Amino acid sequence: MASRTSRDVLVRGLAVLGRAIREQPRIFAVAVSGSVLFGAMTVASAYVVGAVVGDVVVPAIERGEVGVGGLALAAVALFGISVLRVAGIFGRRLGAGYMQYRLQAAYRRRVTRRYLELPLSWHHRNATGTLLSNANSDVEAAWYPIAPLPFAVGTLVMLVGAVASLFATDWALALVGVAVFPALFALNVAYSRRMAPRQARAQRLRAEVSGIAHESFDGALVVKTMGREAQETDRFAARAGELRDSLVAVGRLRGVFDPLLEALPSLGTLAVLVVGAIRLQQGAISVAELISVAFLFTVLAFPVRAIGWVLAELPRSVAGWDRVRRVLDATGEMAYGDTALDVTDRPATLAFAGVRFGYEPAEAHLPGTEVLGEVSFTVPAGKTVALVGPTGSGKSTIAALAVRLVDPLAGTVCVDGVDVRRLTAASLAGTAALVAQVPFVFDDTVRANVTLDRPGIGDDDVWAALRLAEADGFVAALPDGLDTRVGERGTSLSGGQRQRLTLARALAGRPRLLVLDDATSAVDPRVEAAILAGLRSSAGQAGAPAASILVVAYRRATIALADEVVYLEQGRVLARGPHTELLATVPGYADLVTAYEQAEVDHAKDETYDEVAPLTSGLEIEVDR
Ligand SMILES: Nc1ncnc2c1ncn2[C@@H]1O[C@H](COP(=O)(O)OP(=O)(O)OP(=O)(O)O)[C@@H](O)[C@H]1O
Ligand SMILES: [Mg+2]
Repeated sequence: MASRTSRDVLVRGLAVLGRAIREQPRIFAVAVSGSVLFGAMTVASAYVVGAVVGDVVVPAIERGEVGVGGLALAAVALFGISVLRVAGIFGRRLGAGYMQYRLQAAYRRRVTRRYLELPLSWHHRNATGTLLSNANSDVEAAWYPIAPLPFAVGTLVMLVGAVASLFATDWALALVGVAVFPALFALNVAYSRRMAPRQARAQRLRAEVSGIAHESFDGALVVKTMGREAQETDRFAARAGELRDSLVAVGRLRGVFDPLLEALPSLGTLAVLVVGAIRLQQGAISVAELISVAFLFTVLAFPVRAIGWVLAELPRSVAGWDRVRRVLDATGEMAYGDTALDVTDRPATLAFAGVRFGYEPAEAHLPGTEVLGEVSFTVPAGKTVALVGPTGSGKSTIAALAVRLVDPLAGTVCVDGVDVRRLTAASLAGTAALVAQVPFVFDDTVRANVTLDRPGIGDDDVWAALRLAEADGFVAALPDGLDTRVGERGTSLSGGQRQRLTLARALAGRPRLLVLDDATSAVDPRVEAAILAGLRSSAGQAGAPAASILVVAYRRATIALADEVVYLEQGRVLARGPHTELLATVPGYADLVTAYEQAEVDHAKDETYDEVAPLTSGLEIEVDR
């Protein structure tokens, strides 16, 4: 089993290397040429040294005088060899570095691009820490063996040359080489075989450690306010300890094998001296030849290690590559269609017909639960529909379906009569905009957060969008106005300010369908109603977005502005109609709205809306409903 896995790792590792060579063939050729030049010169240097000692030094000692001509020739030869060796090292190092870093950069880009292509359902199943380590340490690990690879390939060529020259010199000495080199190779293979599981484990633990770290930084507010610093640190320390242990295990193995790999060529040199002395006595070889071969074993010891480096990195490379490939080969991205909607200024219609939806279970063997069952409703062009329902009833899911973040299991979601699955990416993005329940703000300027580099959105448009989102006031008061940087995730803004910034972002794209998922919950109720009223009344006005609106709402004042209310309970539409009608006829609805209203009143007493609360620190506590 162990040998099967190690062969498996070797085969798969070589396949990864093959892919690297196919991707960067020219740089690889440069690096290998440098390495082969180095190898040839290494073998040559052994023979020159042997010749110098045997033909110049020994006769000089015997005769008591130095042959100047021979010595000069040897010096020139050794100098020439050194220059070529230096050139070889330069070419190899440069080529290997280029190749390794180019591949890392290319695959980082591919992995992150894939993240953005993959559907939300995939992201729900994969932790952020894992994604970080896929794009970072896994990509690096996959291409680690690239650095010593050209050296190793050059060394293989050199070994063949060395063995050939050994046979040309003397068969008995050649046999020593034939015994030592394969033994060295076998030792390297045994090394990498034992290394494989340890490296894979270390790589997995690296991902987990970065996952925990990421979560604790991200949840710093919760951790601090709940006084969980010690527990959180312990949780991290435990996993970091496991990583340490697994890396120590790697180091221990290295400690055992490194000296062995070092010692074997020295034993070879010893064997050469013993066998060589006998052959010298027999008159089969000359002193020069014996010294050449002994020197050859000494200079070969180091390059042979390069083969070991590649083999030792292979398991880690395979583990990293498997994790990278899991991302690159992941499927489920939602292919866009090829139907483009006409470019108009008219508001769009949105129609849900018999839509069913269930999230994929976290683990494949668990059953998925149905979240929406047979949901049907329409948002007619230019109208505002409020989606009301208890928590967990499926409102955010409907919002995600409306802008095609996910696809329904059954039924259709149509915009302007076209199934959203048939729309092009540009049509979809240009028509519908979602303002999510949890606002996301980039660590950039206010302007960049609103425009997101979309073309054709000038400062006037940005201000118009900010005005509609009731955000122009606070932005104008910021020290650098539109150029103010808002900090990571908008930490320098209050919860309500962040929400209005993301609303302005959606409005700046002039969507014809606006989906607001509880997008103004942290805003003063009066301002929330004003925003919605502004959006409605501006529809159709020159320069203002003419959007149909689907709004997840809680507050009576906001709901009352809607043309129709869709009342949802446990993923099913229980009632549809004007607010006043539902209030009178649907008991559950009346209870819910009244309960929210009561909560509002209590809330208002606490005066915690950001409109009234002073903006004092970067550590804002989200106002909840
Ligand atoms: N990523 C997910 N994976 C699995 N189940 C999910 C996921 N997101 C939501 N759910 C489940 O789907 C149901 C509907 O969730 P949804 O977020 O649509 O509710 P909601 O009406 O928006 O609630 P709220 O008012 O709290 O925002 C819930 O039971 C929830 O547990
Ligand atoms: Mg929700």
